[in-house]
Amino acid sequence: MNQATFTRFDESTRADWALIDAHFQHYQNDASRRVLEHLLRLKGDTHGYPVDRYEHCLQTATRALEAGADEETVICALLHDIGDDLAPANHAEIAAAILEPFIDPLNVWMIRHHELFQGYHYRAFYGMDPHAREAYRDHPAYARTVRFCDEWDQCAFDPDYPTRPLEDFIPMVERVMSRPPFGETTSVEDPA
Ligand SMILES: [Fe+2]
Repeated sequence: MNQATFTRFDESTRADWALIDAHFQHYQNDASRRVLEHLLRLKGDTHGYPVDRYEHCLQTATRALEAGADEETVICALLHDIGDDLAPANHAEIAAAILEPFIDPLNVWMIRHHELFQGYHYRAFYGMDPHAREAYRDHPAYARTVRFCDEWDQCAFDPDYPTRPLEDFIPMVERVMSRPPFGETTSVEDPA
């Protein structure tokens, strides 16, 4: 049996869910590969920027790595803009959601708020308050989000920077995304 036999959940059995669970574990374990595949979709159109979003992501991650950031932070840097093509108006939510099961909640907050914090460097050109991020000055992730944006993200648009290739980051993504989601592994239990 390779597929469940039910047509509605209220008629499902333990055997159905054991089968589905086995498929899900395999699918979950393969998620990092699909995420990296999606990152490649950011190649090409620069949307007017000096480098395309793929290069920008690699360069942000390279800058974090060279600065001695821990692996989890480097992966945040690599993936922080991965939602740009799917959700241009609120792209940070996509990266935050992808990584949330595997990383420190403060790093999730950092990713989620990086657009606003990054805006310190350009919001004035749009007639918006560049200091809007100051509303979060007392938040425990404030300092790391400022550092992320000011030292790595906002300066990662240099076509001449020695950006590392994606291959350097693949094992890191695999390690972070192979952690138990939300700290625990659940599975369909055998009947006692
Ligand atoms: Fe960015």
